[in-house]
Amino acid sequence: AIERTFSIVKPDAVAKNVIGEIYSRFEKAGLQIIASKMIQLDDEKAGGFYAEHAERPFFKDLVGFMTSGPVMVQVLEGEGAVLKNRDLMGATNPKEAEAGTIRADFAESIDANAAHGSDSLESAAREIAYFFSDAELCPRG
Ligand code: CMP
Repeated sequence: AIERTFSIVKPDAVAKNVIGEIYSRFEKAGLQIIASKMIQLDDEKAGGFYAEHAERPFFKDLVGFMTSGPVMVQVLEGEGAVLKNRDLMGATNPKEAEAGTIRADFAESIDANAAHGSDSLESAAREIAYFFSDAELCPRG
C-alpha cells in the first residue's frame, strides 16, 4: 500500500553536508518527498518528539544531540514507505547497520546516527502531525 512516513536528517548528517545524498537515496528507492523543511529544535520540541523515551537513560543525551544544530524534517510517500525507509536507514546503531545503508555510510554513533524514521504507520501519523500541518503536505498523486 502507498504509505507516508516521517523522517529526520539529524544534526550530524546536516553538518556533514550530506542532505542531498540522503534525499537521493529516498528518491532512488521510489519514495517521494512530499514535505520538507530545515529547523533548529529546542529542548521542548525535541523532548516532546521523543516523549516515549523520557525515562530512558539516553534521553538527556538524545535531546542534547538533536538540539546541537539544524535538522531536516520530511514526509516520504510511496509503496511500503515505513519499512522501506527503515531498510534504507539500517540498524539504529551504525556499528550494526548493513553496508550500503544510510547509517553505515554516514553515521558515527547511536546518537549521531544520521537519520530518524517512523517505526510504524501509527508513529508516522503522529510524527508527521507533530511537525507539519495538512496544508504543508504536497502529494503528487
Ligand atoms: P531514533 O530513531 O531517532 O529514535 C530514538 C533515538 O535514540 C535513536 O534513534 C538513537 O539515536 C537514540 N539512542 C541512543 N541510545 C539508544 C539506545 N540504547 N537504544 C535506542 N536508541 C538510542
